[in-house]
Amino acid sequence: MSKVLISNLSNFEGKEVEVSGWVANFRSSGKIAFWQLRDGSGFVQAILLARRSLGGGGDAIELSDEKWQESKKVTLETSVKLLGVVAKHPKKEEFELQVKDFSFIQIAEEYPIGKKDHGPDFLLDNRHLWLRSSRQWAIQRIRNTLILATYEFFNKNNFIKIDSPILTPSACEGTTELFEIDYFGEQKAYLSQSGQLYLEAAIFAHGRVFDFGPVFRAEKSKTRRHLTEFWMMDAEMAFINLEDNLEIQENLIRQMVKSVLEKNKLELIMLERDVKPLENITKPFYKIMHKEAVKKLKELGSDIKEGDDMGADDETILTKQYDNPIFITHYPKEVKAFYMKRDPLDDSRVLCADLLAPEGYGEIIGGSQREDNYEELLKRIKENNLPQSAFEWYLDLRKYGSVPHGGFGFGLERITAWVCGIQHIRETIPFPRTINRLNP
Ligand code: 4AD
Ligand code: MG
Repeated sequence: MSKVLISNLSNFEGKEVEVSGWVANFRSSGKIAFWQLRDGSGFVQAILLARRSLGGGGDAIELSDEKWQESKKVTLETSVKLLGVVAKHPKKEEFELQVKDFSFIQIAEEYPIGKKDHGPDFLLDNRHLWLRSSRQWAIQRIRNTLILATYEFFNKNNFIKIDSPILTPSACEGTTELFEIDYFGEQKAYLSQSGQLYLEAAIFAHGRVFDFGPVFRAEKSKTRRHLTEFWMMDAEMAFINLEDNLEIQENLIRQMVKSVLEKNKLELIMLERDVKPLENITKPFYKIMHKEAVKKLKELGSDIKEGDDMGADDETILTKQYDNPIFITHYPKEVKAFYMKRDPLDDSRVLCADLLAPEGYGEIIGGSQREDNYEELLKRIKENNLPQSAFEWYLDLRKYGSVPHGGFGFGLERITAWVCGIQHIRETIPFPRTINRLNP
């Protein structure tokens, strides 16, 4: 008897197999019952037949009277081991299980998540159970594909993974969003907002590096795009300019989306995701300077000004106008981080780009050319009132063989939300942390 995962059933047509899983749904009428079985790898319909009293059932696989009676004890989320024969669905490109025998592993108590509509708070309070529902299952599968595609891309392109620290002595992105920790009563430590600064050190040893891990932002934002803990991938490269940087980002995002289109057809259907906008990914991304974007936004009715950062609403308005991701480049220096290199052609701007996902999604990547001159960087640190002592090591990198370099960072949840076509990023991470949620 082969123990088989549901995703492999198609290789066992006509054979008897053992499948273990959970009953995600069930219904019965008369002498037939259907269990929708989930084992993690997929879903399959199991068909249970009662014995017909007059016999003459032909080849039909029937349960003993005793088993048929027992089958009526099934509840939602009951765990079960089944013995059955794999059969092709008479109409669809699917396989079914004709059940010969089964044993309950545990008959579940009444499951709190039913068929009726639940509000988001109830579902989030029950996140430990909600993860099992088919939509949530599909989202996590797609997230996983995006992670794998990221590793594959960097591996193919001569990057190595460098793990940056999570406990840090200083801010990377901005001091207002730091989670502070008392470090043995001797000093303060902060949870990392991005591993970028540490990756900058690593390029001098390895040329091209990336990290991928949790980062933390004590942002008081209650938007559908903000989490206080999320997964960021930072990439950093020596000897590149802004143009090279954007090319790498474009190729990475293209490979990630392509990978989901190839590997997660079922999941995209379950999420009712219109894949047409994702299929556009083969076309070149748009590139617009911040100045131009502001002009366009004003035409579209925004009250944004020349020197403003782009707000979430502006990004939504703008990205609804485009059918593919858009790079916005050359932001005003005031709205960007201290480490970004100034544009030699316009000192009021920095050599940076945010990548905005289309269909109203907005920023998924932030990146830039880094200031590689010691004196200039020191000036920025002072202008920003950052503690110079905590940045001495970072300044050192500009003393010993400094080179033009740059990189970028993406937020995995933002990309997952866009690719899945879902509204709120809290559904894209297994256990979301927001300003008002730390449970479960
Ligand atoms: O634009 P950010 O702040 O850039 C950096 O941290 C750079 N140090 C990255 C680098 O150059 N290596 O953040 C990068 C990305 C954003 O584009 C967004 O996708 C995501 O991280 N992000 C968030 N995702 C969820 N919740 C939040 N609060 C986020 N803040 C940023
Ligand atoms: Mg940003």
